[in-house]
Amino acid sequence: MSNTSFKRTTVTAALPYANGGIHIGHLAGVYVPADIYVRYLRLKKREVLFICGSDEHGVPVTIRARKEGCTPQQVVDRYDKVIKESFQEFGISFDNYGRTTSEVHRQTASDFFRKLYDKGEFIEKESEQYYDEEAQTFLADRYITGECPHCHAEGAYGDQCEKCGTALSPTELINPRSTVSGAKPVLRKTKHWYLPLDRHQEWLEKWILKDHPEWRSNVLGQCKSWFDMGLQPRAVSRDLDWGIPVPVEGADGKVLYVWFDAPIGYISNTKEILPNDWEKWWKDPETRLVHFIGKDNIVFHCIVFPAMLKAEGSYILPDNVPANEFLNLEDDKISTSRDHAVWLDEYLRELPGKQDVLRYVLTANAPETKDNNFTWKDFQARNNNELVAVYGNFVNRALQLTQKYYEGVVPAAGELTDYDRETIAEFAGVKAEVERLLENFRFRDAQKEAMNLARIGNKYLADSEPWKVIKTDPERVKTILHLSLQLVANLAIAFEPFLPFSSQKLRDMLGLGEVQWDRLGSTDLLPAGHQLGKPELLFEKIEDAVVEAQVKKLEDKKKEREAAAYRAEPVLPTIPFEDFEKLDIRVGTVLSCEKVKKSKKLLKFELADGLENRTIVSGIALHYDPATLVGKQVCFIANLAPRTVCGVESQGMILSAVDSDESLSLLTLDRKVAPGSRVG
Ligand code: 2FM
Ligand code: ZN
Repeated sequence: MSNTSFKRTTVTAALPYANGGIHIGHLAGVYVPADIYVRYLRLKKREVLFICGSDEHGVPVTIRARKEGCTPQQVVDRYDKVIKESFQEFGISFDNYGRTTSEVHRQTASDFFRKLYDKGEFIEKESEQYYDEEAQTFLADRYITGECPHCHAEGAYGDQCEKCGTALSPTELINPRSTVSGAKPVLRKTKHWYLPLDRHQEWLEKWILKDHPEWRSNVLGQCKSWFDMGLQPRAVSRDLDWGIPVPVEGADGKVLYVWFDAPIGYISNTKEILPNDWEKWWKDPETRLVHFIGKDNIVFHCIVFPAMLKAEGSYILPDNVPANEFLNLEDDKISTSRDHAVWLDEYLRELPGKQDVLRYVLTANAPETKDNNFTWKDFQARNNNELVAVYGNFVNRALQLTQKYYEGVVPAAGELTDYDRETIAEFAGVKAEVERLLENFRFRDAQKEAMNLARIGNKYLADSEPWKVIKTDPERVKTILHLSLQLVANLAIAFEPFLPFSSQKLRDMLGLGEVQWDRLGSTDLLPAGHQLGKPELLFEKIEDAVVEAQVKKLEDKKKEREAAAYRAEPVLPTIPFEDFEKLDIRVGTVLSCEKVKKSKKLLKFELADGLENRTIVSGIALHYDPATLVGKQVCFIANLAPRTVCGVESQGMILSAVDSDESLSLLTLDRKVAPGSRVG
């Protein structure tokens, strides 16, 4: 169905975890595009509901609470408030921002689970999991530490060794300990409920790949790779004391898995504001459901949640899931744990009143088709060269000239020239184009198109030179300014979905009142004789010092992190030279490289080592695409005793540096040498 043949649209934006603030990556990836879309639909007078809220369950919340010596509820209360305020400040216009700790959500998620349970949509399985007898609790993987079986570092977690990056299961740890009590955990049988996604694969595959070829290619690509691997049953319960209790007998101490309850939060948060009318937004086939998310959420919104909805039986499925890629910051991954981010609350304190500038820059750089980069230099350039020099400048010139020549009263137009008519024709088409792009979730191009209006206006003024013509043909100036002011009014409308604060300011300056989106492209928005308000600047130039201070702040944090990492890992005690000589480090050329089956972190290398080829397994799969490594030269320890990792015999160790954020960088050479060359 085309977008307009639906009666209404339910728009959801990923529920952010309430264990930290919101940064520009979240805003660019999810909330700004969702808000633009919803504002646009509202301007088009389409029925729309915009739903979001805090995602408050899950292990990370409990870990944070334990670290801070408070309760999980206190953690989520604090961040729910911070997040909600940030969204309000940036004009993200949710109809409801709820919480997954609300009573209506507990009831809704609980009923949802129970319905699937009663319909026989789950399978029950027993497995052995670590249990802390002292604390009398099953342990989430992150609550168990021990020695890594691969690199033998202490302090590896039950799901991953942060030292060598290898994915682990808790039972692989050597000498495991519970971080809750310090006790040695014991294995105990525990029962969980699983959503058998394998049973859903056939219809999911057809529904996504055949019925929705219009979805973004990154979304389709990820879904296809899940299908190619074959969907597996997923556990939807956990042994944890923070979450929504599993509503069946014999499930004491078990809660719903956070990814089971979170998407149901969209439904609960609808119910919360529309207790009697929520169903039409979720169950009427004439309702269109659109999920705005980041790419890390694709599997949950395209596969798991739709399978849940289908299994329940009475819900509609998403019509589109316009997932974005990631935004980097100053060429480095945004990271909460490393504090490499621009936090919205800090931004607002340090650059007050500049919400629209950030909205503009994030949309201009939106990571719609590939990961993108935010730099403060680009932020400054887009503000100064586009918002100030193009949009602001045009508005200001048109208003100032009207003020100067006509005391701020819109002059009447006289006869139009061919050039006037050409200009009018040029901007008449903008509405259709912006709409087409927005309907297709192409926000950056849509914003560019809106900006085009201002470019048309600037060119028109520059070519028409009213400041000169006023001396020779004052009547003509009336037409020029009349038309320019119509363009200015068009800008206020066209930018409404993108820059709501500036549009409001401009509307106020123009006294534009209720003029609506459907008039975009018209030349009679401000009638002759209409009194304009006092002109003010829409945007201000951002000076070098402002962005330099922001860059410095990031660099200072990075230096501090590096120093802390060095302090945490001081240089080992001195060894005699002979000990060093025992290590045989060599250069190898990568002949082939592939992922090790059933492992997220391991890559299997075939290296030419000068003599014969050898196989080495290395835990760097999260940091490199194996195809890009073929042909590279790496350094490896050639005389390490072989060991078997995930069923593959590894004949040595490839060397890499561990960055302060635990990411790995291979030791490569700056010129080619013969394979087998010694390093020393
Ligand atoms: O990735 C995240 O931030 C999750 N909290 C998103 C949840 S989206 C939805 F399912 F609630
Ligand atoms: Zn390790």
